[in-house]
Amino acid sequence: MVKVITYGTFDLLHEGHYRLLQRAKQLGDYLIVGVTSEEYDQARGKLNVMDSLMTRIENVKRTGFADEIIVEESQGQKFRDIKKYNIDIFTVGSDWTGKFDYLKEYCKVIYLDRTKNISSTMLRAQKTSIQRIGIIGTGRIANRFVTEAALVSGVNTQSVYNPHIKSAQLFANRWGIDAYEDLEEFYHSLDIAYIASPHETHYEYIKQALEHGKHVLCEKPMCLFKKQSEELFELARKNNLVLFEGIKTAYCPGFTKLLGIACGGTIGTIKDVEACFTKLEDDNNRELKDLKYGGSFTELGSYCLLPILKIYGHDYESIQFETVCDACGIDIYTKVYLRYPNGLATAKCGLGVKSEGKLLISGTKGYITAEAPWWKTNYFEVRRENPDDVERFSERFLGDGLRYEISDLLSRINGDRKKDFKLTRGDSVTMAGIMEAFLKSQGR
Ligand code: CTP
Repeated sequence: MVKVITYGTFDLLHEGHYRLLQRAKQLGDYLIVGVTSEEYDQARGKLNVMDSLMTRIENVKRTGFADEIIVEESQGQKFRDIKKYNIDIFTVGSDWTGKFDYLKEYCKVIYLDRTKNISSTMLRAQKTSIQRIGIIGTGRIANRFVTEAALVSGVNTQSVYNPHIKSAQLFANRWGIDAYEDLEEFYHSLDIAYIASPHETHYEYIKQALEHGKHVLCEKPMCLFKKQSEELFELARKNNLVLFEGIKTAYCPGFTKLLGIACGGTIGTIKDVEACFTKLEDDNNRELKDLKYGGSFTELGSYCLLPILKIYGHDYESIQFETVCDACGIDIYTKVYLRYPNGLATAKCGLGVKSEGKLLISGTKGYITAEAPWWKTNYFEVRRENPDDVERFSERFLGDGLRYEISDLLSRINGDRKKDFKLTRGDSVTMAGIMEAFLKSQGR
């Protein structure tokens, strides 16, 4: 019996896939088809696959050519599968010519002619129009955003606005986009506003963008007051627009995995969450100079509150802030204590104090620990009473990670995903409430 294997994403199954599977089957007696998992596609930068894994498997099954379907979950699996399933022929389309020659040592490798003028990428583009992004603000994060957005198919960074037109022009020249001085014209140039301006300006910009019928992705902290956050989400809902708070950790695959494991009972009932993020900043930077809205907690608090709110929810019983301030009265280090009906939590942030960045989730049967930079989750461990009992989990975190939130935003806009679960409206509103309570506690 001649055994053949082939692999692919098979998103929006099309004629090219059908013809490939048909010819692959004709090469032998038994065809195994490896369909890529969502995580694997994300890890290799294929971020906008539209069909779920189940749909893609179902579609491959329906062609009637596959004798067996397996899931391809990681790089290096092909080699293992060839051994495991005793494969005689490995085949893929000619777009991969040469790429799998290294497998020739183990089986025959055949590149089949790719069917012309059809691909999943083409179909995805037809199904959805390109979303134009306009950026407000030209700081460090805005620069990183442009590079990351370029990796997500379906969006195009088009324009930038900064009240200081010189900064906007410099930024625009660097990235080959258009600079705007007039806000009205700027809003007309885009479908999605990405807001990366100073914290206190977010509310006004978000409101304007939503009133102009634009979707919004806003850097954290999106709002510093609960009422404002509620109002903006309500406005987005009424206008049928998507409003996303950009806390990148929430959207990265490793963090989603960590939460799934934490909340799945592996470590028993969770009784404590401790999250720490410190990043030493220059005294002259805006983060430490802005006496009203600057400081460690407004800058980094969103990251530390994220695992706490995702695990325990929004109904904390009490909250307490302790700060260490510099001579100007700005918090260079902040500790927040939260008490929930069933457990405790601490968030520690520092721009002027360095500590060990760590996320530690403790339960009745064990704990999860993730080292810095846990906010770009790529590795964590589950440990139990027996020190030898360690489960290790890793997940790829690509580039600066903004690509994950941009990709999720796009899925929401295109209607592939109806509800947010990674960072909900409730999460953002609660965070705004905590920011507000913090500012009040500092007499700001
Ligand atoms: N394929 C083909 N002819 C096409 C498109 C794909 O023969 N017109 C083959 C690929 O070479 C591969 C398999 O089908 O062996 C699965 O490819 P996949 O990457 O899932 O499909 P694409 O349409 O190429 O997807 P994308 O546009 O996302 O890269």
